[in-house]
Amino acid sequence: MTRLGYCFTGSFCTFERSFEALRGLVNAGYDVQPIMSENAYYTDTRFAVAEEFSHRVEELTGRKIIHTVKDAEPLGPKNPLDLLVIAPCTGNTLAKLARGITDTSATMAAKAHLRRDRPLLIALSSNDAMSQNLSGISMLLTRKSVYFLPMSQDDPTGKPYSLVADFTLMREGVLAALSGEQLRPLFI
Ligand SMILES: Cc1cc2nc3c(=O)[nH]c(=O)nc-3n(C[C@H](O)[C@H](O)[C@H](O)COP(=O)(O)O)c2cc1C
Repeated sequence: MTRLGYCFTGSFCTFERSFEALRGLVNAGYDVQPIMSENAYYTDTRFAVAEEFSHRVEELTGRKIIHTVKDAEPLGPKNPLDLLVIAPCTGNTLAKLARGITDTSATMAAKAHLRRDRPLLIALSSNDAMSQNLSGISMLLTRKSVYFLPMSQDDPTGKPYSLVADFTLMREGVLAALSGEQLRPLFI
């Protein structure tokens, strides 16, 4: 059975979309290990109550959420995944991934996973994707084993620098990344 890691980071407004994408993966028969960044795991917002949301994720996947650096570290050689998905991926996590900063459960999971050149699929959701984080996108697009879920400008007038992944393409994105391919078109 294909083993996926599925990591939420703190783009709280896309939690429900990502949860539905996760449900699609579970229903498709993937064995999913849930992961949450510390911010995603502990922060109550107008979009989600942290404890309720994490309970739903654990119920859906049948597994406890990894939410510390220490517990994410074995997701390398010791306890490998076939694919790691970060969905949603914040601008913050993207910037850290691009520059090799590892100080959260999400970035630790990615570091552990990428050291074996296993595929990482990023579903970006960030208001500064086309400003401060554009360089991070280009750095990761050219990095081995890193793929993006296709994304679009969700509100070009109101949020001119924002990009949000299309979470409904998750199953296609996962299949492509598992085959070493970038699902295209990348910008939709
Ligand atoms: C209500 C709320 C919504 C947020 N939405 C986003 C978002 O959509 N995209 C983003 O990049 N950051 C967003 N942030 C900011 C991140 O949560 C913040 O940068 C945090 O440090 C991310 O940590 P993480 O990447 O480790 O999860 C939001 C913060 C709050 C409180």
